Amino acid sequence: MNRHPNPSSVVFSHPRNFYLRTFGCQMNQHDSEKITGLLESRGWKRTGDENEADLILLNTCSVRRHAEERVLGRLARYRREKEKRPGLLVGVIGCMAQIWKEGLWEKFPELDLVLGPGSFASLPDELETLIDSGGQRLVDRFEDPADFFEVPATRVNSLHGWVTVMRGCDNFCSYCVVPYARGREVSRPPEEIVEEVRSLGKNGYKEITLLGQNVNSYRGKDRADLPVDFPGLLRRLNTVEGIERIRFVTSHPKDISPALISSIADLDKVCESIHFPAQSGSDKILKKMRRGYTRGEYLERAQQLQIAIPGITLASDFIVGFPGETDDNFARTLDLLREVRFDRIFAFVYSPRPKTEAAKLQDGIPPEIKSARLQQLLSLQRSISLEKNQELLGKEVEVLVEGKNRKYQDRGEGRTRTGKMVFFPWEEGMRGQLINIRIERVTDLSLYSYFPVEK
Ligand code: SAH
Ligand code: SF4
Ligand code: F3S
Repeated sequence: MNRHPNPSSVVFSHPRNFYLRTFGCQMNQHDSEKITGLLESRGWKRTGDENEADLILLNTCSVRRHAEERVLGRLARYRREKEKRPGLLVGVIGCMAQIWKEGLWEKFPELDLVLGPGSFASLPDELETLIDSGGQRLVDRFEDPADFFEVPATRVNSLHGWVTVMRGCDNFCSYCVVPYARGREVSRPPEEIVEEVRSLGKNGYKEITLLGQNVNSYRGKDRADLPVDFPGLLRRLNTVEGIERIRFVTSHPKDISPALISSIADLDKVCESIHFPAQSGSDKILKKMRRGYTRGEYLERAQQLQIAIPGITLASDFIVGFPGETDDNFARTLDLLREVRFDRIFAFVYSPRPKTEAAKLQDGIPPEIKSARLQQLLSLQRSISLEKNQELLGKEVEVLVEGKNRKYQDRGEGRTRTGKMVFFPWEEGMRGQLINIRIERVTDLSLYSYFPVEK
């Protein structure tokens, strides 16, 4: 209930301090930038110090049990803090709020606010209600995402900006909680995206990453009511002045179209790198995961990308120990790594999630087998990443200089177009420049130019 005719014009008379801690994916990180922008526009001030906060917000992730445990651990600490400071407000927002709802109060009855990602735009009003009327608030509505698309972000980085192109997910992979946490897919109108990127370009940003759980199913409608797909959006963004590099995450393998492949190949600002999670190399497991592609189809997409875009880097996610995964099924995943030769992967032990279909399956694989598989997968990938980086020895790469290394003050750091980290001798004034660096040394994780005195 809004007690004010125009809630967005209401600004608290006293600035209040909030502390915001984010867990989870890049979408969550960027949502926190928007939440910060939104709260600041309503008179709140962000603080990095929990002790001076009037409000503590945790923007949470439910994708694996471990992510939730980190939040539960913090909440136990804040319980003691609330006993010491009775006025302190503590809220759980984001995916875990949407999944757990009242369940959070069973564990933490003193929690003040539980608000899901479908209601971020209402956060300031909900806080106001909480402060005025006391009590607790649970907000789990999925509101019109348009309200949140347009909230200006307070960005943490001044060279690289995240830009939301869509929210939600319709895929319902059998292991995944995201569709339940984030609701159905909604695409943001293309003109709004172009406008935001234009303003980033004007303000000195050089690089953007377009965000969505599954960007390739982007289906925007422009003002003339004509459909714009993801390659169409990339074409529009490629002309924005000031922006040098365009990245995007995540791509669902089933939606990688010839048109997308040509846009990466043809559009000069779109970087030669793609993150398209395979999850498994076994057809039996892929089917049980409801991924919508076979191993063969995945390999075909990978090959098409590699042929059409020379030097493209491929990244992927994998889940090991999915229910019913045998040694042979896992061996197919190892084989997939050898065949595709990814530049990097993220790998996770399967974690059963509430509400999901796979949670009903018998999870009979012993934990030590799961962790042994994870180690084997990561160790194979380390050797492939090293070999792929060794191919760059002696070559020049274009680097966008991000700044000075925190630990080694004589080192600059930046990334290649393909997203690899590069270290080189630092010179003042380099930040934000595109420079060419000859690669003299590599590890599986990074590339290095020559250092006169090796530290
Ligand atoms: N939208 C993205 C993935 C979002 S979740 C996509 O479909 O590609 C990020 C990664 O977490 C997934 O790619 C998957 O590898 C992992 N993940 C998701 N649910 C999981 C679960 N229940 N257990 C372990 N890992 C999981
Ligand atoms: Fe989860 Fe699958 Fe959607 Fe990715 S595509 S967010 S893994 S349901
Ligand atoms: Fe992201 Fe975790 Fe939610 S991965 S979408 S924050 S469940």
